[in-house]
Amino acid sequence: MNAIDTQDSVTPTETRTPVLSARRLVKTYGHVVGLDGVSLELFPGEVLAIIGDNGAGKTTLIKCLTGAEIPDEGEIELDGKRVHFRRPQDAREAGIETVYQSLAVSPALDVAANMYLGRELRRPGFLGSVLRMVDTKTMRARARAELTELGISTLQDVAVPIENLSGGQRQAVAVARAAAFGSKVVVLDEPTAALGVRESNQVLDLIKRLRERGIPVILISHNMPHVFEVADRIHIQRLGKKAATITPQSHSMTDAVAIMTGAKRE
Ligand SMILES: Nc1ncnc2c1ncn2[C@@H]1O[C@H](COP(=O)(O)OP(=O)(O)OP(=O)(O)O)[C@@H](O)[C@H]1O
Ligand SMILES: [Mg+2]
Repeated sequence: MNAIDTQDSVTPTETRTPVLSARRLVKTYGHVVGLDGVSLELFPGEVLAIIGDNGAGKTTLIKCLTGAEIPDEGEIELDGKRVHFRRPQDAREAGIETVYQSLAVSPALDVAANMYLGRELRRPGFLGSVLRMVDTKTMRARARAELTELGISTLQDVAVPIENLSGGQRQAVAVARAAAFGSKVVVLDEPTAALGVRESNQVLDLIKRLRERGIPVILISHNMPHVFEVADRIHIQRLGKKAATITPQSHSMTDAVAIMTGAKRE
């Protein structure tokens, strides 16, 4: 028996009300068990990292939390109320912004249009309300302001189509969009995987700023120094299950990797 499976024994969290919580999520793909009874709680203003080897179920977990997958079993609550997201748009409308590992950007659209994808601003009056014409000028001005405020400086021109950007710049746009619109929760699946040192640090700063604004962040990353720099708590996935929840104070990076690989229990 693995006694540490479902208990967050590291921090006395019971008195706080989670913003987002999941209980015993199960997701199978044919014979493959993506998630095997995983529970998770995300508290106000915290950065919760999710780590684990390839195929451990990290992406499946956040897909179930954000409407990209529908779990076979289990319950999800947002602000203490049961939710049943059927598609990512449902979660977005509820205030959860997600940057998926496979970036959901539209390559042919420009940076500003991508930032406002699905929530386009319309021109004032008849042009907007009846003809549904989008207000490109305002969207560009606001997108520029958002990117500047978020400290993303490598993007010069928001009128450039996404397909002309570098991989890292695309990732920066996706993260900026999530940070700008995530009103309750921001979920980032490997946001620094394609980024250089400078851009990675900008994303880490962005995560810290979201925390300062009181917005909790779920961060999936293979980068242990990044995880240990920003995370308040670390959820460790192993073979579709939660192996433990630790903190950077309670455990070292070596401990975390050992739990991840099964060399150590907690
Ligand atoms: N659409 C799918 N169809 C079939 N199997 C899937 C599907 N999505 C995920 N899986 C399987 O579920 C398991 C968990 O995958 P998941 O993508 O959640 O892993 P991960 O922890 O995010 O890995 P990585 O670090 O490589 O991103 C894997 O065995 C994977 O092959
Ligand atoms: Mg993944």
